Amino acid sequence: MCAYCRRCFQRATPSWNTGVASARPARLSCGLVSEWRCDLSSFLGSGIYWAADLHVGGGGDLNGTAYIKEPIACTEWERRAFARLVRQGFPGAEGLDARIRAAKWLAFYYAAGDRLGAIAALKAPSARYREDVFKQADAPVSHYDYKLELGWVFVDPAHRGNRIAESLCQQLLARVPTSCVFATTRPKNSSMIKILNALGFARVGKPYPRRNERLVLFLRSCPTALEPGPVA
Ligand SMILES: CC(C)(COP(=O)(O)OP(=O)(O)OC[C@H]1O[C@@H](n2cnc3c(N)ncnc32)[C@H](O)[C@@H]1OP(=O)(O)O)[C@@H](O)C(=O)NCCC(=O)NCCS
Repeated sequence: MCAYCRRCFQRATPSWNTGVASARPARLSCGLVSEWRCDLSSFLGSGIYWAADLHVGGGGDLNGTAYIKEPIACTEWERRAFARLVRQGFPGAEGLDARIRAAKWLAFYYAAGDRLGAIAALKAPSARYREDVFKQADAPVSHYDYKLELGWVFVDPAHRGNRIAESLCQQLLARVPTSCVFATTRPKNSSMIKILNALGFARVGKPYPRRNERLVLFLRSCPTALEPGPVA
């Protein structure tokens, strides 16, 4: 049985309330999902659901499960659990529900015992926000090419130091191999900076103020942006 069904049964949430795919019924019973789980490939590439056991780099298998889902394919319970961890890690996040729904992909790490232990996201922030960040950071490139932001990376303190954040981010980025992605972090957040560097991000521009703190901008360029075509 796949982790999804296992969670589904354990939590007794007997429906998957998404109307996203017209070919699929708006509400699916656990039984249906259970049948589908055997054919994981039907989820892969469907743009709706993807799941994998998370094998972490440093300390071996934590016996947890990572999920990458589009927000629209998440249950209300999942979105609420995700929001709870966002609030824990990033107090004062405004308009959170709408921003979570607007994200491109959400990553969940469920530790053994079925507890949500870590999250991350590929967000799709507004052009106004991106313009503001790139301008304030004095970025040498346009925000126009960087439509996705890697963010809301949060690991429950009990699970830190196991490369979970890196693994989640890696899996998110693997969904968008040709997209330019940006991220921001505090200059003193050495853990996050090491992770970003390992994922191919490079720091650009200068630190800039945001709310009560200073942030720095990191970019992962898309291959096409680095390799302009021949000039005619
Ligand atoms: C930052 C945070 C997400 C890291 O989560 P984590 O799962 O513990 O991170 P990892 O296990 O992947 O990294 C652990 C250590 O290995 C380092 N590391 C990870 N991947 C690495 C790599 N490929 N190469 C070298 N070092 C690496 C990390 O920098 C870190 O080093 P440290 O012990 O010196 O801090 C976590 O501490 C957290 O949730 N913090 C609060 C929220 C936050 O700051 N989020 C980021 C906002 S942008």
